[in-house]
Amino acid sequence: MFARVAARIGRVGGARVAARVAAGAALAAGAAASYTDCISVDLDPAAAKSLLKSLQKMGEERGPRYNELLPAPPGAKYKLAVVEFNVPGAKNGGSDKGPNGHRIDSIPIANGVIKAGAACDIIKYYDTKHAAFAQQVQDYDALIVRINPGQLSQGTLPGTQERFDALMNSLLAKGKLVWSSPDVQTKMGAKDALVKIANLECGLPDTLAYYTEEELVTGFKKTCAFQPRVIKQNRGSAGEGIWLCWLCNGKYCKTYGERSLEDSDWLKLMEMNDNHIEYHTVGEFLEFCVRGPTPKAGNWQSTFPGKYLEGGKEAGGQLVDQRLLPRISEGEVRVLLAGDTCQMIIHKKPEGGLSAVGGNSAYTYYEPTDPKYSDLLAKLMKDIPSLLKVMDLEGQPLPLLWTADYIPKDPEYPRTDGVDTEYVVGEFNCSCVGISKFQAVCGGDKSLADVPDEDYYEACKLTDLMGVKAIEMLNNAKK
Ligand SMILES: Nc1ncnc2c1ncn2[C@@H]1O[C@H](COP(=O)(O)OP(=O)(O)O)[C@@H](O)[C@H]1O
Ligand SMILES: [Mg+2]
Repeated sequence: MFARVAARIGRVGGARVAARVAAGAALAAGAAASYTDCISVDLDPAAAKSLLKSLQKMGEERGPRYNELLPAPPGAKYKLAVVEFNVPGAKNGGSDKGPNGHRIDSIPIANGVIKAGAACDIIKYYDTKHAAFAQQVQDYDALIVRINPGQLSQGTLPGTQERFDALMNSLLAKGKLVWSSPDVQTKMGAKDALVKIANLECGLPDTLAYYTEEELVTGFKKTCAFQPRVIKQNRGSAGEGIWLCWLCNGKYCKTYGERSLEDSDWLKLMEMNDNHIEYHTVGEFLEFCVRGPTPKAGNWQSTFPGKYLEGGKEAGGQLVDQRLLPRISEGEVRVLLAGDTCQMIIHKKPEGGLSAVGGNSAYTYYEPTDPKYSDLLAKLMKDIPSLLKVMDLEGQPLPLLWTADYIPKDPEYPRTDGVDTEYVVGEFNCSCVGISKFQAVCGGDKSLADVPDEDYYEACKLTDLMGVKAIEMLNNAKK
């Protein structure tokens, strides 16, 4: 008697190879959701059993674990470096690191590059030894900079960030790659990127940016007279200075521009770092945004002191004004990407309040192939070729690791394909995005070796993909 065995080997999320075997009454192993290959063969039951066993093993096989940096592969075509910075005087060199002075995710990232076939070192930047570093980096084809925003200004020589950025730009000008380049970080990572993508599929067309007090006053009085809005500062993180704004009397005008608010109109404001609510007049809110908690601004409970336009446009002073999307209550969707490949989708559902920042949300992880987000991803993939162009970043590589954070909303126009939720980008993160399963052990006495196996192998799917994408981007750049 022969059993019919179909062996399918598929790729999920661009990183995982799983195997599934069906024999007789369907025996299955692995969890592949999409298949690229399918072969059918006739086998006797003993052979079927042994094939099943070996395929099961293949599906589960994790390969060796590497807690240390691997040696360079012989004859490697490219040489890369992961660049770190140890904050002077800080334990471990910063709260993002372990006792060996490395970020916990640095070794896996470098090993991902090495496994993909290139050489990769981990090197340190010292603000006090800039010239030596500038010399050292000439040897590399690409740099993966893993320095948290702000670290180059902590206890360093004046002008360190500027010197470092100028060096990175000089490397880019020589045809080397830098992830993420200073321009990518400042342009794509800035809130006004939302205005630049407003007309892409992933954007909201009615998004505005204000760089001066006049623009803010005129613009906000008009937008918030029409509908609830969100005012976003550029400099905070985790919801600081991100204000959901409603009119207390709820009397919005019917068409945009029909009316403007008065200074004396009352607003209900919710800040997204802690979901606290404050009531202020429009005049007080605008004063707080521009000059901070002055007597004219009334009493503020917010921990961040306003002044969102301080320093002007050049210094990153800006406010973005976006439609308030009420379905944020269903949570935010984080798309995690390496270059132009999505590795994972994370749904963050707020537990109390409207904000999913910090520890106040429940996470669900989805494969990029999950049908729940197929419309979202298809649109993002369609937008990716235009993304850098609209942000005035043409010619720069996409970040090696970045996120697009989406907010759900009703479709803009009725759809006939059954899709009842569309998603728009609320922000991009492209500066040293942490790899959470590794970074979970940072800051104390633990190191990479303390990351549990399950987390290690899960997170390595991402770092291995980063290695592959780094080499792919280098190949494309050299064409
Ligand atoms: N247009 C919007 N409508 C509703 N909620 C929003 C909107 N934009 C942002 N939020 C909420 O504010 C939070 C913080 O905004 P975000 O732009 O992600 O800034 P941050 O840099 O502080 O994370 C989001 O996680 C989301 O909960
Ligand atoms: Mg955010």
